[in-house]
Amino acid sequence: MTRDRSDKLLDIAKRRGFFWQASAIHGAIAGFYDYAHLGAALKRKWENEWRNYFLSLDDNYYEIAVSQIMPEEVFRASGHLESFTDPIIQCKQCKTIHRADHVISDKLDGHFEGISLEKMNELIKKHKLVCDKCGGDLAEVGILNMMFPLEIGTGKLRRTGYLSPETAQGAYINFKYEFEALRRKLPLGLAIIGKAFRNEISPRNLLIRMREFTQAELQIFFDPDTITEHPDFESVKDYKLRMFPAKNREANRIDDMTCQEVVDRLGIPRFYAYHLAVIQKFYLEHLGLPREKFRYKELHGDEKAFYNKYHWDIELYLPSVGGFTEVAGCHYRTDHDLGGHQKVSGQSMEVNMEGKKFVPHVQELSFGVDRNILALFELALEQEKERVVMRFPRKVSPFDAGLFPLVNKDGLPERTRNIQAALKKAGFQVFYDASGSIGRRYRRIDEVGIACGITVDHQTLEDDTVTLRDRDSMKQIRVKVEELPKVMDDFLNGKGLEHLGVVIK
Ligand code: GAP
Repeated sequence: MTRDRSDKLLDIAKRRGFFWQASAIHGAIAGFYDYAHLGAALKRKWENEWRNYFLSLDDNYYEIAVSQIMPEEVFRASGHLESFTDPIIQCKQCKTIHRADHVISDKLDGHFEGISLEKMNELIKKHKLVCDKCGGDLAEVGILNMMFPLEIGTGKLRRTGYLSPETAQGAYINFKYEFEALRRKLPLGLAIIGKAFRNEISPRNLLIRMREFTQAELQIFFDPDTITEHPDFESVKDYKLRMFPAKNREANRIDDMTCQEVVDRLGIPRFYAYHLAVIQKFYLEHLGLPREKFRYKELHGDEKAFYNKYHWDIELYLPSVGGFTEVAGCHYRTDHDLGGHQKVSGQSMEVNMEGKKFVPHVQELSFGVDRNILALFELALEQEKERVVMRFPRKVSPFDAGLFPLVNKDGLPERTRNIQAALKKAGFQVFYDASGSIGRRYRRIDEVGIACGITVDHQTLEDDTVTLRDRDSMKQIRVKVEELPKVMDDFLNGKGLEHLGVVIK
């Protein structure tokens, strides 16, 4: 991330109340952030949209809530104990430990995550890379496990555990219980929105690389023999995906390919391609992000996570981080995890479907919530000629509406409070503001990205209508108070103002 841009974003986030470094009054530790009142609202709304969208893909998808401290056995089974490592390198002089691939990518052009330790040593020597803190020589590249270990309990009963580095394991260790409780049907989807913890060597780029962060992950357990099909594939087969296959990297070319072409030309199974389509639709249609800011990036060879057979990242274009940046992943994890848990726990993870016994495979849709929040924040921010505006997708704006009495007299504040109570009862989050000129109040809500402004004026007392002003176009319509909940609902779901009333000239 360019330091200027990152400092500017953090400054805006702090001043307006979105997020800031955690424990700052005692000296912050890198990689930890707290969400302030607006950031927490934005995050909660994004999580709810994610929940509603992905859980409604199938009647057999459910949300669960799991412990985040798990015993060592879980991570022996998942492979994290052995393979969840980062390459590190120590400065011989000041002893600072750096992430080796970052030392390289900070100085050289290209993508270095996942390259071998030998290759890293070779590049560091060849380009005479040194410690960026003191200029000292660097030792050989080594590896470090990224999990946070813990001692649980005391005395004889003490066990070693870890803070979970991904929510996914919570779904795998509960799979068998849920499969039984839900009357043995596949596919079965288990979603978790929860914290993940990683002892990142070089946390950076605000909410992009943190040590404690939130993930929203859906694990879909299915019969591997059905991977070449999906019952809803027909509905997406002509839908065009923005694909950036590994072979296009040199040309830096994104291909628009239909789901059918992805199956035919890239050899991706229909079950996986279907999920690429629903994820892209979540970003482009459900949230309404610009198409050109989105792409799927193929990971190959060593770049893939150790548990994945197919691995495409979802990337959004974030200039502050230097371009397209991973915010989520579509992972085909095979039976890697259930197989591991079966082996280490000695408990069978097999299912018996009409006489056919097998360990289900897993399709994982994995989202970093904080990265998505940072992306929304950065993509929303616009400096216009006359105002600063945050154009969040209306659905996830921190508040649905600002609510204003035009003046603080003539009974307008009382009428506004009545309307506020009615809107709150109908489930809307509204922000009451009676101070300053109406223009100032509009600017204030624009700056924090509230979707619309509702003003109660003298006409309200005569005909029970209010004005509704769209944050983005700044256009207004008059709406009957009794119709406000319906109109707001349509507006927040993306309907243009001109379809909701007569635009005031
Ligand atoms: N369960 C699969 C899994 O955890 P991952 O690619 O390691 O896969 C998934 O992480 C998502 O979590 C990433 O796409 C990213 O959005 C987010 N993420 C990963 N590490 C992160 C970190 N240190 N800080 C913030 N978000 C992170």
